[in-house]
Formats: sequence, structure tokens, C-alpha cells
Amino acid sequence: MFSKEEREAIYKVIETRRDIRSFKSDPIPIDAIGRILEAAHHAPSVGFMQPWNFVLIESDEVKKQLAWAADKERRALTIHYEEDERASKFLSLKIEGLKEAPLTICVTCDPTRGGSHVLGRNSIPETDMMSTACAIQNMWLASCVEGLAMGWVSFYKKSDVRDILVIPPHIDPVALISIGYTDVYPKAPILESANWEKRRSLQNLIFKDKWGNK
Ligand SMILES: Cc1cc2nc3c(=O)[nH]c(=O)nc-3n(C[C@H](O)[C@H](O)[C@H](O)COP(=O)(O)O)c2cc1C
Repeated sequence: MFSKEEREAIYKVIETRRDIRSFKSDPIPIDAIGRILEAAHHAPSVGFMQPWNFVLIESDEVKKQLAWAADKERRALTIHYEEDERASKFLSLKIEGLKEAPLTICVTCDPTRGGSHVLGRNSIPETDMMSTACAIQNMWLASCVEGLAMGWVSFYKKSDVRDILVIPPHIDPVALISIGYTDVYPKAPILESANWEKRRSLQNLIFKDKWGNK
């Protein structure tokens, strides 16, 4: 069904995709945005509920307000690292490019979509959020093949984002996504290069038949 080249291409995009924080102001072609959103909309979803919406934000004023919400949360989170030497590192890490990126997309999840009997969702209610995360991963991979950089920002209070974007109270603002061109597309995750965390050994994460069995 897929040629060798096509197979290699998909694994290449999975491995080279990075979370990016620095963006150039160059505009993004409208057709590329369309393809990225189509990719999101082709994600799997529990009971095919497609719980997502996409709020496209290009206004500098609104982006500034979102950056304020994210920065407020980042400062609040540093309390957790107060007695840890990682605090200054955490503070110095650039965790969002919300003001820089030409486009921010707030991806939301509507838990009421499809009514009260969404197939499969009754057992694990969070599957609506998981479905939205699948859509965001598709956006990430699509951005990567478009030569665009994407960053996922989740450092904010949902109430702040709801207020800024006038999102109804039952809708979950799952992610703020920055998209744009970049000069900095690293090979390794930024948190790995900053010695914050490293990739775990896959072999240690795989069990056979029962939990813990190697
Ligand atoms: C659910 C989720 C939330 C994230 N939130 C943030 C965030 O708020 N700030 C940030 O700097 N990175 C965030 N990231 C990006 C991760 O830090 C990044 O994916 C990880 O360090 C691995 O790097 P890579 O994506 O380049 O492979 C988030 C990623 C995911 C999947």
C-alpha cells in the first residue's frame, strides 16, 4: 500500500518533528494552514465525535494577552522548584513563542459534542481529550512536512484563556499552538539539549505478558 520511500518519509517526519519556541515573523501561506487543519480534522476520535474546534489568532493584541497568561503561569510554577537548582534553569528556559509566531491556534475540546451517548466514551470520559490530542499531533506532523515550526503551550489557567478568547465555560481550551517559520529547528528536543530531561531507553519501557516482565 505504501512504497518504501513513503514509509521512510513518515518515520522521518515522526523523528524530526520538534517542539519549537522561536519563530520568524514571515507569514504562513494560507493553503499550508488549510492542509494543517485538514490533517487535524482527519485524526481518530472516540465514537467519531470530532470534539475539536480551532480558534485562529493573528491579532497582536490577543497574542499579547495569551502570552501574559502563559508567563503568569510559568512564574507561578517556579514555586515548585524553589529549593531546587533547576529553578533558575526553568526560569531561563524559553517556554513559549506566543508573541513571536505569526499564528496561534487555540485547539479546544467540546465534551458535549455528539450528545450523551458517544460510542466508547462512556467508559473513559477523557477519551474526548485524547482524541483532541491526536488532532494536535497530526497538526505537528503536518507542520513539520510543510517546513513550518510548531510549539505546544499548555502553561496557562484555562479560565484565563477562556476569558481572553471568549470561549464558553463547557469548552476545554486544550492547547495553544504557535506556528511559523523558524531559523532554529534542532535535532534533539530542546529540554534534552538543556540537560533538563533525556530520552528514556525504549527497551526499559516494554514488558512481556505482565507488568514488569522483561
Ligand atoms: C501535552 C503537551 C503539553 C506541552 N506543553 C508545553 C508547554 O507548556 N511549554 C513547553 O515549552 N513545551 C510544552 N510541550 C512540548 C514538550 O516540552 C516537548 O514535546 C518535549 O520536550 C519533547 O520535545 P520534542 O517535542 O521536540 O520532541 C508540551 C508537549 C505536550 C505533548
